[in-house]
Amino acid sequence: MRLLFIGDVVGKPGLRILSKFVPDYKKENKYDFICVNGENAAGGFGLTRKSASKLKKYGCDVITTGNHIFDRKEELEELFKLEYVIRPLNYEKSFPGKGFTVIEIEDKKVAIVNVQGQTFMPKEPKTSSPFKLVQECVENLLPITSIIIVDIHAETTAEKIAMRYFLDGQISALIGTHTHVQTADEIVTSSGTAYITDVGMTGAFDSIIGMQAKPIIKKFMGDKNQSFKLAKNDVRMNAVEIEINEANGKAKSIRRIEIGENS
Ligand SMILES: [Fe+2]
Ligand SMILES: [Fe+2]
Repeated sequence: MRLLFIGDVVGKPGLRILSKFVPDYKKENKYDFICVNGENAAGGFGLTRKSASKLKKYGCDVITTGNHIFDRKEELEELFKLEYVIRPLNYEKSFPGKGFTVIEIEDKKVAIVNVQGQTFMPKEPKTSSPFKLVQECVENLLPITSIIIVDIHAETTAEKIAMRYFLDGQISALIGTHTHVQTADEIVTSSGTAYITDVGMTGAFDSIIGMQAKPIIKKFMGDKNQSFKLAKNDVRMNAVEIEINEANGKAKSIRRIEIGENS
């Protein structure tokens, strides 16, 4: 079974490159399913039903999210009526939506779980520790399927690597999202779990993680009145391709991908 996991889609440039690549790319590379982190798909801040349905139309099967969905909190109830959109499992119980989903690919079931880290992350939405909750979730999913993919949406490398050791051998893949910078540490562990600390970003790379540089530099220099603007140039898609033994859920390979819009 072949999976493509695409890093955080940032606004129109990110949606545009996916509209060009994903439909053919899915067929040519025989991907059985595609997962994408969509927390920045709507103008760079959050995810709307409209942007989610575009991602679905391009061929993305499941959309994971993270902290930025709170940028559009008034739309959350409607957004999470879409069964293919999930949010971190460790948000407050009252938060709309669910932290995992199980989809059927031909006759195989695949589970996708979303969790959020706690170190250096925004205070809202409120989170509890993801470790115990993800363990319980995986234990409940294992009788249903051994093919389990977890998106850990977190800032620090150490928290993501800790999760890798915590879940090693129990899941098919642990994919880091949120930092928008692809790391070069992809691995399949000896226990058969594929891992990368961060899969990267799908959007404009002539930028600071998808946004125009100048306002962000001014903000770092102390000017609090800066609003962020979406960058436009050098659009690329970051992803990882993972091959999974569908008989036992063990990962066989993981490969980093970066494709430019004009390549
Ligand atoms: Fe993001
Ligand atoms: Fe995030």
